[in-house]
This record gives sequence, C-alpha cells and structure tokens, in this order.
Amino acid sequence: MLRLVPLALEHVPLIMSWVNDREVTQYFAALQADVSEPEERRFVEALAASADDRAFSIFDGDEYLGQCSVNKIYWPARNGRVFIALRRAAQGRGHGRAALARLMEIAWGELDLHKLWLIVRRDNHRAQALYVRLGFEFEGVLRDEYSVGGRYLDMVRMAALRPVSQLGPGASVPGYAKN
Ligand SMILES: CC(C)(COP(=O)(O)OP(=O)(O)OC[C@H]1O[C@@H](n2cnc3c(N)ncnc32)[C@H](O)[C@@H]1OP(=O)(O)O)[C@@H](O)C(=O)NCCC(=O)NCCS
Repeated sequence: MLRLVPLALEHVPLIMSWVNDREVTQYFAALQADVSEPEERRFVEALAASADDRAFSIFDGDEYLGQCSVNKIYWPARNGRVFIALRRAAQGRGHGRAALARLMEIAWGELDLHKLWLIVRRDNHRAQALYVRLGFEFEGVLRDEYSVGGRYLDMVRMAALRPVSQLGPGASVPGYAKN
C-alpha cells in the first residue's frame, strides 16, 4: 500500500538514489549540479523544519519510490506549489498518480489549502497527463523560464482548486454564498 511519510533525515540515503540521476532531475531547474550526501542532509533538515513546506517520502510497503511535497505555502491565500519526483525504477507503474492523489487529500484536508500550483516543462507530457487526470488545469506558458544543460526551456503553469465536495460541513465558498 502506498504511504506518504513525513520527510526525515533518515530518508537522505534513499533520496541519494535518484537526486543525481539526470534522467529524473532534468525536469527540475534547481537540481542541475551533483549533490553530496552532507549537502542533501542540510537541505532535508531545513525543509523538514520549514513552516511553509510539507514534504513526504513515498513508499509502497517497504519499497522507497520517491518524494513529493507542497512547497512555498502562502498561508494568507492558502496556496502551495506541488513537487513530485519518483526514482527511475518506480516510474511508469501508476505510483505517481496514487502519490499525488494522496498529497492532494492532505492539501485539501489537514492543510486546508485552497489552491495547488506547479510549473512543468512544456515537453514533459507524462507529468502533464498525470496533473490533468487529477484535475489540474493549464494557466499559462512561461517562456525560456528554466535553463537545463545550457538550453532554455519553456515551462507551463498548472493549478488545481479545492473541489467544493472537499469543504467541511460548515464551510462556505467565497463568491458562491447565497444571499
Ligand atoms: C512525472 C511522474 C511523477 C509521473 O509518475 P508515473 O507513476 O511515472 O506516471 P505514469 O507513467 O504512470 O503516467 C502518468 C500518466 O501519464 C500518461 N503518460 C505516460 N507517458 C506519457 C507520454 N509520453 N505522453 C502522454 N501521456 C503519458 C500515462 O498513461 C498516465 O496516464 P493515465 O493514468 O491516464 O494512464 C514520474 O514519472 C516522475 O517522477 N518523473 C520524473 C520527474 C518529473 O517529471 N516530475 C514532475 C516534474 S513537474
């Protein structure tokens, strides 16, 4: 069964299994130089302690699959940025969908967020298909936004709004309240 476990320092050796794999990291502007284990430890320590990020390691039973998170949470507008990366051996088996669906449940439920957004490479059709499947819509194109391997890349911004069905019993939706 798929589990999202809050990010912890003990996950660093697992994260090292993909964080320098260019096949995986080519989709992230921030991961273009090799990362050492001590550097990754410092990064994980800060992320796990952050009040504006909620990061998780993804497991299927005992098998480590990758990472997902809601970052840059902007509490006044209740929105946050989605990140997901599966290590190479875990891709193409439907785990991305299960992990993101669980992350969205956490975002709408215990985090009480209103909007999730992300930017994805324009040519990353697999990730876009996953996001569309889970209710994300396209919001625009950011031209030459990333530089990966010396090449500028267009990014697409996508976002999902919390479905009305996920609101608590007493909640009202601004703009939809009956007067
Ligand atoms: C993107 C990622 C999270 C997707 O997770 P996954 O479990 O590997 O996803 P799957 O291979 O099961 O595919 C997801 C969907 O895309 C579809 N898909 C796969 N390859 C595709 C392609 N080349 N073009 C269009 N759709 C594609 C699948 O059919 C599936 O859709 P479905 O559920 O409707 O059948 C994972 O592959 C990953 O971590 N990739 C590297 C990092 C990355 O790209 N992260 C996202 C950055 S924004």
